[in-house]
Amino acid sequence: MNTIRTILITGGAGFIGSHVVRRFVGRYPEYLIVNADKLTYAGNLENLTDIEKKNNYRFEKIDIVEKQSVLDLFEKYNFDGIIHLAAESHVDRSITGPDEFVFTNIVGTVNLLNAALKKWKDAFRGKLFYHISTDEVYGSLGKDGLFTEKTAYDPKSPYSASKASSDHMVRAYNHTFGVPAIISNCSNNYGPNQFPEKLIPLAINNIKNNKPIPVYGKGENIRDWLYVEDHVAAIDLIFHKGKTGETYNIGGNNEWKNLDLILLLCRIMDKKLNREEGTSEKLITYVKDRPGHDMRYAIDSSKLQKELGWSPIPDFADGLEKTVEWYLINTRWLERVLSGDYNKYYDLMYSHR
Ligand code: NAD
Ligand code: TYD
Repeated sequence: MNTIRTILITGGAGFIGSHVVRRFVGRYPEYLIVNADKLTYAGNLENLTDIEKKNNYRFEKIDIVEKQSVLDLFEKYNFDGIIHLAAESHVDRSITGPDEFVFTNIVGTVNLLNAALKKWKDAFRGKLFYHISTDEVYGSLGKDGLFTEKTAYDPKSPYSASKASSDHMVRAYNHTFGVPAIISNCSNNYGPNQFPEKLIPLAINNIKNNKPIPVYGKGENIRDWLYVEDHVAAIDLIFHKGKTGETYNIGGNNEWKNLDLILLLCRIMDKKLNREEGTSEKLITYVKDRPGHDMRYAIDSSKLQKELGWSPIPDFADGLEKTVEWYLINTRWLERVLSGDYNKYYDLMYSHR
């Protein structure tokens, strides 16, 4: 193998990370792709069985919170680039247990920055620390307006506050020490391999099993949904063509009220499961709202579109249909994911709502 670059992808066994790993391993046979992941409840190597034997792929089980493990990893490989996705990613979990978010999202990111600085400080040329972040760092929008790269940070949940902190540390290492860094902030993703704690896969699983679909509050909160492969295409583009020191917003230009989204999902599921129209929506159940629930997120991604030529592809109904099909076909993936501590989690989150 003629390796021209060695790329570290953290969190590559998770939802978005596994799609990034697959794309990079497949498209760039001349890169060695190292996936470093702790394999928390959200990490699943089954997401990567189709590429795990490729000779440009390696897996390293590490916890980025353990400073020495990170330093050892950077001694074992000479990384040219880092795409950092490893994180605790679910808002509801950050409300019941914020500590883990501080450790992984903030301390873990700083450990990676320190290791990159140590290895790269004499020759930053050709190196890149690419930090994957969220639009939630900008806080919550009212009826109008969009998040741009210039919107002031105003995180409201322990999750978004921990991601905002990590973004600030990445910018500080870029500004103070010269670590070449890029950040992208993306809106809500959906698609295959997403852990069924997030709204769309949780609702698909509940509809399939005729269980109540928990809608927080009145279902009026708005999210800007993006198909995961569109996010991953943007990550590829930004990693290769983005400008060091810059931030790029990524979004679907696809705002949906939670209730309208669930109604669309119910219609798709009725068709796929050969149920009479209107059957699944009877499962909608309004439950106690999430504390501090952000009302609306919406992204202005014109900078990325204009400067790098990116645009999202599938129509939302098509993307949702593809996603539903994936969950209905991959029953073993779903069963195995649900067989762990999922029931305990579900009781903790939903039994008091
Ligand atoms: P995920 O929860 O599905 O996956 C996270 C991965 O990180 C898992 O494989 C997990 O094992 C790993 N991980 C967690 N703690 C770790 C640690 N201490 N050391 C090493 N690995 C660890 O998350 P996701 O939804 O794929 O999100 C990936 C990234 O994208 C996150 O940084 C998230 O903030 C960001 N993001 C997500 C979305 C979204 O809608 N899901 C939107 C915008 C940005
Ligand atoms: P989620 O998928 O957790 O993403 P985020 O909170 O990061 O945007 O939730 C998406 C929206 O759906 C959010 O407004 C909260 C809401 N929601 C429900 O109404 N019911 C649920 O069971 C979940 C998990 C989320």
